[in-house]
Amino acid sequence: MHTETGYSQMPEYGPDDASGLRGAILRDGFAICRGVVSMAEIAKIREFWLHRFQPCQATAPMIWGPHLGEENQVLYHETSDCCMFRSYDFLWNPAIDLLTREVGLRLSRLRNAVAGVDHRSGEYFEPDRYGIYITTSYYPPGRGWLHAHEDRADERRHWHFMLLLTFKGQDYKAGGLHIKNRDDVRVDVDAMVQPGDVVFFDGSLTHDVEQIQALPSRDLGRLQLFSIPTFMERPHESDRFLQSVSLGAYVKARLRRLKQRLISQYDYRYT
Ligand SMILES: [Fe+2]
Repeated sequence: MHTETGYSQMPEYGPDDASGLRGAILRDGFAICRGVVSMAEIAKIREFWLHRFQPCQATAPMIWGPHLGEENQVLYHETSDCCMFRSYDFLWNPAIDLLTREVGLRLSRLRNAVAGVDHRSGEYFEPDRYGIYITTSYYPPGRGWLHAHEDRADERRHWHFMLLLTFKGQDYKAGGLHIKNRDDVRVDVDAMVQPGDVVFFDGSLTHDVEQIQALPSRDLGRLQLFSIPTFMERPHESDRFLQSVSLGAYVKARLRRLKQRLISQYDYRYT
């Protein structure tokens, strides 16, 4: 039965039931897998990121279109569309936090089993530059939110996994992830999650993070780990990359190219 805040009765799935989870996502748009990640791992990852996401974090626009070779980043951004901290862990770089990378890849492979694709899909790059990066997001209490949107997708299943590291009712009072299911009911997903669970959902459905409200006794927001599948840009077509190139480096590169051309012309004439 559907309700305003969620499902009064939710089928239970474990990590070995990929086909059950797949059926639930095809039917409802999302599914919750119980008991996937240990409390010890959650505690360690949570401690790392709650310490790393400091209030003094430099403000910078979120990266919505990363390019190949991009450096890892930890950013904070507040706009008319969102307010959050976000980390970007690209697989060609050393991990920001080893355990976050390890758990992120493990869950990405589980997500691939649920989606019915090669278990390492997203870890290597397709000719269209499709791949994943590992990311954590922190929505601070009283401010953190993300507007309702649908993720860009092609014919591939744009299904996400999401591991919550703070919990509604225990760490924060209200707000969090809501998904419009396939019956067009806006479901309060965070209210159904227990520590160690993993949420799977179809990112092409409308979803949002409602502004996080703190519990009276705690000053904690909403922390999550997931991976983002995307089409990486080519560096020379990325405005952000081109803006990072200094005028001096640009002129030097052009002069080097001119010099090579002149040398090759000289060699051609006198050999
Ligand atoms: Fe999204």
